[in-house]
Amino acid sequence: MEYQRYEHNAAAAELVGRHYDTPPLAFVHSYGCQQNVNDGERIKGVLVDIGYGLCDAPEDADLILFNTCAVREHAEQRVFGNVGALKGLKEKKPGLIIGLCGCMANQKQVVEKLRRSYPYVDLVFGVDGIDTLPALLARKLEEKKRILLEPAQRPVIVEGIPIRRESEFRAWLPIMYGCDNFCTYCIVPYVRGREKSRRPGDILAEFKGLVAAGYKEITLLGQNVNSYGKGLDEEEKMDFSDLLNLLCAVPGDYHIRFMTSHPKDASRKLIDTIAAQPHLCKHLHLPVQCGSDRLLEKMNRHYTVEHYLDLIEYARERVPGITFSSDIIVGFPGETEEDFQGTLDLVRRVGYMQLFTFIYSKREGTPAASYPDPTPRAEKTDRMARLLKTQDEIAMALVKAQVGQTVRVLVEGSGRAEGTLSGRLDNNLTVEFAGEEALLGQYARVKLTGARATVLLGELSV
Ligand code: SAH
Ligand code: SF4
Ligand code: F3S
Repeated sequence: MEYQRYEHNAAAAELVGRHYDTPPLAFVHSYGCQQNVNDGERIKGVLVDIGYGLCDAPEDADLILFNTCAVREHAEQRVFGNVGALKGLKEKKPGLIIGLCGCMANQKQVVEKLRRSYPYVDLVFGVDGIDTLPALLARKLEEKKRILLEPAQRPVIVEGIPIRRESEFRAWLPIMYGCDNFCTYCIVPYVRGREKSRRPGDILAEFKGLVAAGYKEITLLGQNVNSYGKGLDEEEKMDFSDLLNLLCAVPGDYHIRFMTSHPKDASRKLIDTIAAQPHLCKHLHLPVQCGSDRLLEKMNRHYTVEHYLDLIEYARERVPGITFSSDIIVGFPGETEEDFQGTLDLVRRVGYMQLFTFIYSKREGTPAASYPDPTPRAEKTDRMARLLKTQDEIAMALVKAQVGQTVRVLVEGSGRAEGTLSGRLDNNLTVEFAGEEALLGQYARVKLTGARATVLLGELSV
């Protein structure tokens, strides 16, 4: 693995300065997962580094960048819809640069479609191109031609890319990029490339910076954080639990979350680490995808329901009060009613606090795209409705069971009712309570007094 450092591109900054009478404005919108949101924050950082200001409305912008997600068809359609809606804007403002980057831009057929059918899209670059954006923009301003880069992956990690974070108290911190797992339904390994781990020293330095800047919640990101460390040099070799221990040794008032944990690599050592480290949230997002061994094998997930439940049980023994969340795919090709009953059964047995549910979406180029998929759409939506109903009942009961406790929450924003705040518990549940805005971004102690569906209600406790 090659590690590089970002360098300020003075020539690009100078060109941007010369090209516009007043500092140009950029509108950057990120779709998809936290990894992509974090990429978006770095894209903004790079743009500011070469003289752009940032704006919240596309109408005000000289540069519009959509940082896209390809994980499901619906996500892609939304992007094409939103890009389509910019046509009029471009006609009114010919100097406007419209760009598309992120995961969709790493698919050949998407670049082709943009080339053919979206002539007003000027700039396309993939997920590994953030540090090259100044040079690309400079070329674009000089040559005035479309620049649509073909998908390419670079076996390089670029450190020190400037960043404009969206929050002053919650931060995303990528520890690795890409994915090597090739679950048969999933496009991510194709668009994000092979797994690559950042060096522990680089992660630690960014982490210390965040703690020093007052960040309270730091979420470590990777498609499979449990395989962190592959490819590191021998002398700095460590696994994910070692990394957590390294970070938790940093003194300060903060908590750490991480995602995503792949069940095949989630180890007992990891669970022991959660048990031992007070900085780690007692919550585990452990996507199971489905509760049928037959389908898990077809999905290439490399674990069984039994292995998964063993892990959950071990975690419950070692970390009292730990809660779980998961991702579920309904309607994977060939899913039978019996397979689906397995999923319902597993969901009941684990008792998830939160579930992120998706109807299978066919992704061209993945193995599952060619699997026979005879189940009618209506049947899949019916299964989804049954799953959601089951989960609602479980979550409601779990939420109610929290009432009476006094907990520490991070105050994140305003609540729904006037004069209330909303905070998040260690277990990711939300609580609303009356309080002053000055508490925003701070920890507060809250007594849980009731619940409205899956949102807790509480009052400040002293
Ligand atoms: N790396 C993470 C997940 C990243 S994608 C992990 O392995 O857990 C987030 C979620 O999207 C996945 O967990 C899966 O539930 C869902 N997903 C991925 N591909 C999908 C597809 N083709 N159709 C429907 N859901 C999908
Ligand atoms: Fe996709 Fe599987 Fe990789 Fe997660 S682990 S990103 S689901 S291929
Ligand atoms: Fe989407 Fe790319 Fe994330 S496909 S889910 S934005 S890794």
